[in-house]
Amino acid sequence: MRTYLVTGGAGFIGSNYIQYMFRKYDNTIRIINVDALTYAGNLENLKEIANRENYTFIKADITDKAAIQKIFEENDIDRVVHFAAESHVDRSIRNPEIFVQTNVLGTAVLLNCAKAAWEQEDGSFKEGKRFLHVSTDEVYGSLEKEGEYFYETTPYAPRSPYSASKASSDMLVKAYMDTYRFPANITNCSNNYGPYQFPEKLIPLIINNALQGKKLPVYGDGKNVRDWLYVEDHAKAIDMVQEKGRLFETYNVGGHNEKQNIEIVTIIIETLQEQLSDTDPRKALVSKDLITYVEDRKGHDRRYAIAPDKIKAEIGWEPETMFKDGIRQTIQWYFEHEDWMKNVTSGDYQKYYEEMYE
Ligand code: NAD
Ligand code: TYD
Repeated sequence: MRTYLVTGGAGFIGSNYIQYMFRKYDNTIRIINVDALTYAGNLENLKEIANRENYTFIKADITDKAAIQKIFEENDIDRVVHFAAESHVDRSIRNPEIFVQTNVLGTAVLLNCAKAAWEQEDGSFKEGKRFLHVSTDEVYGSLEKEGEYFYETTPYAPRSPYSASKASSDMLVKAYMDTYRFPANITNCSNNYGPYQFPEKLIPLIINNALQGKKLPVYGDGKNVRDWLYVEDHAKAIDMVQEKGRLFETYNVGGHNEKQNIEIVTIIIETLQEQLSDTDPRKALVSKDLITYVEDRKGHDRRYAIAPDKIKAEIGWEPETMFKDGIRQTIQWYFEHEDWMKNVTSGDYQKYYEEMYE
């Protein structure tokens, strides 16, 4: 049975990926999820699969070399899927150091432990071992002109502490591939949305605020563009790259779904007004009047847009969920999981929200 080591599996994309993998492979794989459970990690995301015999959770920090080494020593890991990271740009602007610590040092520790476990005496690597580094399109910087896209060959030009730390971790993975022929891939994906996303990110933040009749903060002129992908499509892409991708290659993942932030906010308001029943007291709170233009993010990247030609041509991956369906499903999920939202917004997040939007 193939064993996966998933890092950051209690976060947004990681927990969706683990659920996707068990739906697809059921009892034919084993997953070990390593997560430090920072403010962004929530085991509630995985409660449906927590008791599976082929699933293990280990609370550990990826920068803790001894802990990671032990996991590789005690388990014959076949695949690593590396999600664990500090992931929020605004937090990186306020506190960059933890981004370097987790995203750069943590990736170095993981690479080193995987290499030690998989390398053979002649310097080659055991058959079938693969490391997938989950990265972002933000490493390519900011597009300023219409019609420009990020390709795998686009030079790296990160502009925020978050994207700089992800770019650094990508470079480390590339260095391992070039220096040791370490069996890895990198995926650079556009903005994800879907269930279990922490409400510091645009889409869940707007849904959550709108349902409470709170202001909807739009940075700058609201015309920055992001390329949105439903999280399950990302999970599928990661699996397909590990199954069919050529080793040592980078694949861009995105679905040609560019939208200005203000369009996203408007779509959410309109969808909420449509989906909430007339008897629901929250319906009266949802209004376009809540839209509030606030001070722009420092160094705010203008536009991201992925060209997914390579992953489509080589692997046959294409997004399946249209934005209009994905956003409805996502909003529906947040309706049905008010408790989840209450739990994650109590405590630390509340403190962050008050400081950020004071
Ligand atoms: P997230 O913040 O929701 O989850 C991150 C997870 O990593 C959490 O469970 C957290 O507890 C864990 N973690 C953080 N520091 C850790 C440490 N030192 N040791 C162990 N675990 C730690 O992030 P996400 O949105 O799910 O993103 C996952 C990955 O995908 C990240 O690498 C991110 O850069 C990348 N990515 C995200 C997006 C997006 O739109 N969210 C798009 C492209 C790529
Ligand atoms: P975010 O979800 O933080 O993702 P990223 O910065 O990694 O792309 O932000 C998405 C876009 O929404 C980005 O252009 C910043 C903007 N934004 C707002 O306008 N208001 C908000 O409250 C947040 C969190 C983001």
